Amino acid sequence: MQLKIFIVTCVLYHSSAAEYYKTKPDFVKTCFKSDPEFDDCSRQAVQQLFNALGPGLPEIGMAPLDPLNIPKIRILQGEGPVNVNAALDNVTVTGFGQTDVLLSQVDAKTYDFYTRVRVPKMRIEGTYDLKGKILLIPLVGRGLCWFEPTNMTIDIVSDVKTYDRDGFVFFNVTAAHVKYNIGGMKLRMNNLFDGIKSLEDSTNSYLNANWRPVSESLRPILTKTIEDILLDFMQQLFNNLPGNFMIGDVKNNAVSKKTDKKV
Ligand SMILES: *[C@@H]1O[C@H](CO)[C@@H](O)[C@H](O)[C@H]1NC(C)=O
Ligand SMILES: *[C@@H]1O[C@H](CO)[C@@H](O)[C@H](O)[C@H]1NC(C)=O
Ligand SMILES: *[C@@H]1O[C@H](CO)[C@@H](O)[C@H](O)[C@H]1NC(C)=O
Repeated sequence: MQLKIFIVTCVLYHSSAAEYYKTKPDFVKTCFKSDPEFDDCSRQAVQQLFNALGPGLPEIGMAPLDPLNIPKIRILQGEGPVNVNAALDNVTVTGFGQTDVLLSQVDAKTYDFYTRVRVPKMRIEGTYDLKGKILLIPLVGRGLCWFEPTNMTIDIVSDVKTYDRDGFVFFNVTAAHVKYNIGGMKLRMNNLFDGIKSLEDSTNSYLNANWRPVSESLRPILTKTIEDILLDFMQQLFNNLPGNFMIGDVKNNAVSKKTDKKV
């Protein structure tokens, strides 16, 4: 299967004057790897990070995570059950602000993060332009659309490198690997088939009745989108937040490590 996705995110303000946190901000909870209760502490710490990221952190140039605005997602996918040439413009994603952090672990040697979160209700809306097939149904149209996945659980493995700056140890997040499950999905694509109403309504009903295979066919697209968004956020955050504030006894461990970790 050939899949190409281009995502233009604007999660960052790219403020050139952004200064990293030289003192520990209030929303950061410091945990210690030496603490036997590290995982529990870390879960609370990452929950506090998500809570702070919801409205955004303008002092380090970070836009809100909820609502999250993405100017453009381009999708080109050749073979398989989804055969689409699609674009989503002016995308707004709401719901990440209600993220529950279920689990947070940090590898003692590599500092790779393993995180499991749950997003009870998410809504993705934007303007679509689509020509292709989903579940073998030919679909053509352009207009407003929305998708509402419910009870999404996301497992994230983040590849991390450590480096020194000004006497601090920073985390360099180099990749994010995502696996997710959803409990349900509703969707609506307006103006399918140039607004032939009966066809538009029956197709939307069919896609909703078959939300499971529809969401499976969108899995590669959604996985890549979530990975790109999370990687952007984590890089921006940890470029500006010394690792010592998160893990009090962190050590720069820039030695040989496995780089082929997957979820
Ligand atoms: C996206 O939003 C911008 C600014 O509001 C607008 O100029 C543009 O036409 C919109 N694009 C689409 C495809 O709706
Ligand atoms: C959400 O999904 C998880 C497993 O993915 C399940 O254990 C849980 O019961 C679900 N919760 C709701 C409210 O559907
Ligand atoms: C982070 O890692 C990437 C990929 O290995 C590397 O290109 C980049 O220079 C690193 N950044 C820092 C600040 O060490």
